[in-house]
Amino acid sequence: MQGGTARVSLYSLVRPLAFVLDAERAHRATIATLKLAPRRRPPDFPPSLRSTVAGLDFPSPVGLAAGFDKDAEVPEQMLGLGFGFVEVGTITPKPQSGNAKPRLFRLADDGAVINRMGFNNQGQPSAFQRLLDCTHVHGIIGVNIGANKDSEDRIADYVEGVRAMSPVARYLTINISSPNTPGLRQLQDEGTLRALLSAVEGARDPKGPPIFLKVAPDLGEGEPDQIVRVAIQHGIDAIIVSNTTVSRPQLKSKWRDEAGGLSGAPLKPLALKALREFRSASGGEIPLIGVGGIATADDAWERIRAGASLVQLYSAMVYQGPAIARRIAAGLAERVSREGFGNIAEAVGTE
Ligand SMILES: Cc1cc2nc3c(=O)[nH]c(=O)nc-3n(C[C@H](O)[C@H](O)[C@H](O)COP(=O)(O)O)c2cc1C
Repeated sequence: MQGGTARVSLYSLVRPLAFVLDAERAHRATIATLKLAPRRRPPDFPPSLRSTVAGLDFPSPVGLAAGFDKDAEVPEQMLGLGFGFVEVGTITPKPQSGNAKPRLFRLADDGAVINRMGFNNQGQPSAFQRLLDCTHVHGIIGVNIGANKDSEDRIADYVEGVRAMSPVARYLTINISSPNTPGLRQLQDEGTLRALLSAVEGARDPKGPPIFLKVAPDLGEGEPDQIVRVAIQHGIDAIIVSNTTVSRPQLKSKWRDEAGGLSGAPLKPLALKALREFRSASGGEIPLIGVGGIATADDAWERIRAGASLVQLYSAMVYQGPAIARRIAAGLAERVSREGFGNIAEAVGTE
């Protein structure tokens, strides 16, 4: 767990250069640089951070959220930088270019990001090939799947994703919560969700990877209860709470009125509230993964105490650099022992 400080200062030198570029160019440059970087072995995490969730052994509960590595170009590098697991995607059956640019905005004054990328990705066959090269990797690489924008049968796209990507995924995430594919979030409605999850259940190989469901923070009264019920009935293994929000809390930045999903600091209270609703709806019967505005060990600890077995982040890495994963892991290990828990799993849902 050493070396975080050196990397933080390196990132503080790189950040002003990256921030001169528009956000999407900076992101492409980051991926290109990471592709050239030597692949490093993941760090040794403190044993108190290990936990088993949905049958998978996680060395640290701090994961990289979907959307950073959409095409599975650098999952091994991100594990080497200290993420306990990495979720690639969203990947759709066919390649698609996504929405018109600009479509990604840094709201630095708010510690936030707005994106309306629209599932730009190279499609499942090309990600499959890259992930085949990662099958020797020890770390956990999850694959987030979605539906093509022009698809006439969205449920069939998820079924295709489950069949195509299961062989190369340690877990799959059914993403029905992106706000940037028109109508996608309607898959969260009870009847449609039931049809989707029953099709997924029929398509999955019983020996295949666990399947997670990723939900929005913008749900109405009673919706978490419905989603939990349907998810458990159809064998979903964990729920990821949450994706970006279409709501606009008070923001300062000039990009605040851009359309798309808002993530980062302003999402934190909404994602935490949603997590608490899912915890109270499920009573711990299905594991939860907390995402949205996590930027510090305190944020991650709060999410774990509220019922998350694991956490993920993306936006805070834009502002703090990749050393954030190791920093939060070290802070969590410190809190586990300070508060008298034997390991991180014992702290889940204890608030
Ligand atoms: C630029 C960007 C692209 C994203 N793309 C995806 C995506 O393709 N699929 C997905 O499930 N979530 C996507 N997300 C949402 C994140 O995975 C995460 O749920 C959300 O950003 C909240 O976490 P954060 O506040 O730590 O960023 C994206 C987020 C950002 C900022």
